[in-house]
Amino acid sequence: MSLDLIEPLSIDSWNPVLDTAAQSAAIDTAAQDAAIDALEAGKVLYLPRLRFDVQAAERRFLSTQWSDGKSKNIYLRGRERVLRGTVGSAEDQAALAAMIERFGSNAQSLVSALFPCYVPHLQFGNTSFRPFEIEGRPPKSFRKDDTRLHSDAFPSNPTAGARLLRVFTNVNAQGRPRVWRVGEPFGDMAARILPRARRQWPGEAALLHALHVTKKRRSQFDHFMLELHDRTKADLDYQRDMPQQRVEFPPGSTWIVFSDQVLHAVLSGAMMMEQTWMLPVAALRHPERAPLRVLESMVGRALI
Ligand SMILES: [Fe+2]
Repeated sequence: MSLDLIEPLSIDSWNPVLDTAAQSAAIDTAAQDAAIDALEAGKVLYLPRLRFDVQAAERRFLSTQWSDGKSKNIYLRGRERVLRGTVGSAEDQAALAAMIERFGSNAQSLVSALFPCYVPHLQFGNTSFRPFEIEGRPPKSFRKDDTRLHSDAFPSNPTAGARLLRVFTNVNAQGRPRVWRVGEPFGDMAARILPRARRQWPGEAALLHALHVTKKRRSQFDHFMLELHDRTKADLDYQRDMPQQRVEFPPGSTWIVFSDQVLHAVLSGAMMMEQTWMLPVAALRHPERAPLRVLESMVGRALI
């Protein structure tokens, strides 16, 4: 079965202007509607000509030398905007933080222009710079192996159904693409994997929270999302046989996904910028397509 999960957009500006007749930096309401429909349908919005402007003085940061060697990303955390995962002088760190922050504000302008109905509800999350080459990096466990197809779910960070919206830009200076595989629709994966999922034990969520394994109480929804994440990654036959497509994102391109929905695997590439937001299900145009609603309709009860 062939898939077509890529929805190209010709926008080449982080601040596309609304409806100024056929300029490449323009977007009209029909384009906004099409972008939202495609995104919520689980497609990858692909902006092949939208590059992030790494300034001449910042090119030195396109290297793994600024990593602290413990974290795989260098990032500004959520609302605190404290730089993590890096080493260097205070001056270097401030310049690196400024580059990452500029990417975050570019991404915020883009998302505001494309999805104005989301704006009041978006919760701005981490902004990261991911310098390391993916290919040949041995994962610590199959659960952490992002070269296997998965939908995002995080053990310590329950979302209670909120969506994970992400913008990525390849900033590789050696011409290397970011290579992904994307897989079959979320509902098809869930129909296959959910019947194998373990149910949450009574008291499990309270215990994990008390032990600080989770930052908030893990809802039944979050439990099932982790089960889907782990069991999808563990099933090598499914990894091989599921309908999927390979996508190359060249340097100077940007793409947008709901990463809790799109099955994705990263095969190779180094030097990427990324911005995450959380978005409540109620802010969606098609909430019935959200993983929360898909799973609830499968199990026949509320999961939050
Ligand atoms: Fe992921």
